[in-house]
Amino acid sequence: MSRPSSTNLAVSAIAASLVTPAAPLRIGLIGFGCVGQGLYDILQHLPGFGAEVRRIAVKNPDKPRSLPKEAFSFHADELLQDRELDVLVEVIDDAAEAFRLVSAALCQGRQVVTANKAMVSQHLPELVALQREFGGTLLYEAAVCGSIPVIRTLDAYFGQEPLRSVSGIFNGSSNYVLTRMGEDGSEYAGALVEAQHKGFAETDPTLDMAAFDPRSKAVILAAHAYGVLLQPEQVLNLGIENVSATDIGYAAVANQKIKVVAGLYLLPDNQLTVFVTPQFVDRKSPLYTVDDEFNGVVIEAEYAGTQFLRGRGAGGHPTGSAVLADLAALRSSFRYAYPKLAAPTLAYTTDLEIEIYLRTDDELILDQLGFTDITEEADEDGYIVGFVPLDALLQHRDRLRKAGAFVARTGNVRPATHATDALELAEAE
Ligand code: HSE
Repeated sequence: MSRPSSTNLAVSAIAASLVTPAAPLRIGLIGFGCVGQGLYDILQHLPGFGAEVRRIAVKNPDKPRSLPKEAFSFHADELLQDRELDVLVEVIDDAAEAFRLVSAALCQGRQVVTANKAMVSQHLPELVALQREFGGTLLYEAAVCGSIPVIRTLDAYFGQEPLRSVSGIFNGSSNYVLTRMGEDGSEYAGALVEAQHKGFAETDPTLDMAAFDPRSKAVILAAHAYGVLLQPEQVLNLGIENVSATDIGYAAVANQKIKVVAGLYLLPDNQLTVFVTPQFVDRKSPLYTVDDEFNGVVIEAEYAGTQFLRGRGAGGHPTGSAVLADLAALRSSFRYAYPKLAAPTLAYTTDLEIEIYLRTDDELILDQLGFTDITEEADEDGYIVGFVPLDALLQHRDRLRKAGAFVARTGNVRPATHATDALELAEAE
């Protein structure tokens, strides 16, 4: 038998170190809801990954759970104090408490993974600053579009390239409801209950149906894709709480579907606009076939051209899969570079007009929105199509919701009437 050469020994040593991490990653898991259980289950099935859920913290001691009561701590702060934990994974749905825990962990210079889009979108500037000051790392791929690796794609791959637009379906629950209504003629309320039972919806489903959730995701992507830090309230969010069979039928007659589309668009003069609304989508769009709880993201890059990412956007296992990927990334010392934040060049604007379909019986709202142009009107179905200032929609979004109005974008935009230049958004082809 020949003796192994020193080269062979070196190669085997490298291979072993690549395959087997030195010690299992010790995880402190805060939250054991849909995502927490999804991650726990995935790790049980992947012993080779080399991670161990050492401690789990939950809030309510009396809630029935799939693990015995002794498996849990009821004080998340105990996990913060446990310096033997290598990583804290925060997957609770209380954004204020999540920020308290995550910021405290970052002040200790720790490694943290979160899935909390509301928390990240509300506190991104502080979270970036805490990482820089104390040397910790925060990853949050699971916060945007479930299993789709969109944040890392924008931050690491497209970190230098200008992007004309990033748009897509960022919410699984509302897409599920629209799919059921469109394909099976389901009632809105029944379809929403199904989305809740399947573990897609937030604890408060208004966040999904009124498009607060995809708005949080759009705000997070604005930082990575464009280096623009926004507060969620700056972004228009209109949802599907008031959608009816009339609206779905109107789309179907034109061979279109209604989808809740989040759009981040680069405009002339180094301006960026962002909004989240229902939109009529035709067969030419890659989003047309993104149904059920799936999400889709279209990236229009200056040099790469169009890219399309599609995957499950909600549910315990798909979202747990994104947390798993973040854990692996932490192990190889990955952190977000926020490359476009380093030299911000874009200004945020809402000074444009968008063409909408509006169905309402509230005459006052029609007046308040200030249509500048009417393209189509049908009194018998109570809808009107025309251009309105985006600022007017922002101002009246709560009233539109409460008045039972349904709004969908046609896809046409133009400069505000006082502007002179033409405007074209880089929509997905
Ligand atoms: N409620 C969210 C959705 C979960 O429906 O998309 C994933 O963020």
